[in-house]
Amino acid sequence: MDLTDIINLTYVIAAVLFIFGLKMLGSQATARRGNAISALGMLMAVVATLLTKGIAFQWIVVGLIVGAMAGAIAAYAVKMTAMPEMVGLFNGFGGLSSMLVGWAEYHLHPESPTFTMISIYLAVLIGGLTFSGSVVAYAKLAEKITSRAVLFRGQQVVNASLLLVIVLFGVLFITFPEGAYTLLIVAIALSLILGVMAVIPIGGADMPVVISLLNSYSGLAASAAGFVILNNVLIVAGCLVGASGLILTNIMCKAMNRSLANVLFSGFGTVVTKALKSAKGEVKAMSPEDASLVLEAARSVVIVPGYGMAVAQAQHVVRELGELLEHNGTEVSYAIHPVAGRMPGHMNVLLAEADVPYEQLVEMEAINSVMPAVDVAIVIGANDVVNPAAREDESSPIYGMPIINVDQARTVFILKRSMASGFAGIENPLFYYDNARMLFGDAKATVQALVNELKSI
Ligand code: TAP
Repeated sequence: MDLTDIINLTYVIAAVLFIFGLKMLGSQATARRGNAISALGMLMAVVATLLTKGIAFQWIVVGLIVGAMAGAIAAYAVKMTAMPEMVGLFNGFGGLSSMLVGWAEYHLHPESPTFTMISIYLAVLIGGLTFSGSVVAYAKLAEKITSRAVLFRGQQVVNASLLLVIVLFGVLFITFPEGAYTLLIVAIALSLILGVMAVIPIGGADMPVVISLLNSYSGLAASAAGFVILNNVLIVAGCLVGASGLILTNIMCKAMNRSLANVLFSGFGTVVTKALKSAKGEVKAMSPEDASLVLEAARSVVIVPGYGMAVAQAQHVVRELGELLEHNGTEVSYAIHPVAGRMPGHMNVLLAEADVPYEQLVEMEAINSVMPAVDVAIVIGANDVVNPAAREDESSPIYGMPIINVDQARTVFILKRSMASGFAGIENPLFYYDNARMLFGDAKATVQALVNELKSI
């Protein structure tokens, strides 16, 4: 067995570790181990690459150290609620590096075979638009620029023309590679512009879907870069990222009951819309003292967390409330909406951090089927994901998005600070329902007050 065989074998093992790691990420119980296993696979792949002849050893080590330090610092420093932004940026950097690999390869070997030229062009094109698109997605989520959809007349025609020109340049580039440097530079500039143009018409609420899609693109760009430098593990890892990003995109679109085309082209969230048919009534506020008496008598309670629980960092005291109710003989479950919070799995992560047992977490479909039999639904900092307008009001921008039907429970407690809207910027008729009671205030303080009251009963 020579060195090449050892390296290829290591690549195969690394690829297997990636696949097992990805599989384990599918369940909360195994996700941490899955992450570690995938990271081990990546380390093996990098070390094997280090051993490949002809690669400047010291630069890979420098890259490894700089990358690992940047990743570690970012992961420690970033707040949990800002995680999607960070993932967005990381995707962008993945795209940028693939673009640079393609560019450098052409710079060094302008007369490569046709297949390599195609790979170079794809790495540069997909990498470039992933980079600029991800930066815009980051800026929208971090509210550095407006998170609303930016639309103008003829936008889709402009974007389609841009894409057409890029494809045309690609054909020219591949057919006449020598002396096509200018063409490549212009294509890089156009792909960067296309990334920006493709993401600005998409509203902030749809950014997670976009980030997941860009994640998939960054995988495809990496795969193309793998073909450019003939690195098997990069090809495999890129394909895995590409495929898993697409699957996640699909899951999120389904959770919102929308097609990918609708997310990408509809300009969802452009106008601040009111829930037009919302039956206004009286908003009934309730004190934690009175609410605790209702909870004390409840046989079944469903807790529905949302973004506000993350902001208030109320997960620990929420778990305490759940435990107290359980000791009182109440059946307690936590209903998780797939897009509650600001990133996929956001609520799961927070509740896991607070040691809420996995068995108590129930998915939307399962909880909705038993909701009419639930005594109290406690909505903690959630808004859009429990908005009945999504079910009933055809004029609502979120019409068709599946929600957790808390309005069908006997009583609904809604914990939030004000009557303000959620991420989609629309009113919630739930607050006016007869069975709804508002518990105004910071979620952590209110849940703490409920806990104190229940303890004193
Ligand atoms: P939202 O609809 O955004 O509502 C959150 C509510 O929390 C707000 O109405 C706010 O009301 C309340 N809140 C904020 N801080 C609070 C605090 N300290 N204490 C108590 N309440 C607080 O959240 P959601 O129901 O979880 O829905 C998620 C939305 O985000 C959906 O529209 C979804 O499409 C979108 N989105 C999802 C993701 C993913 S993948 N999960 C990513 C990005 C965007 P007050 O200001 O009145 O307190």
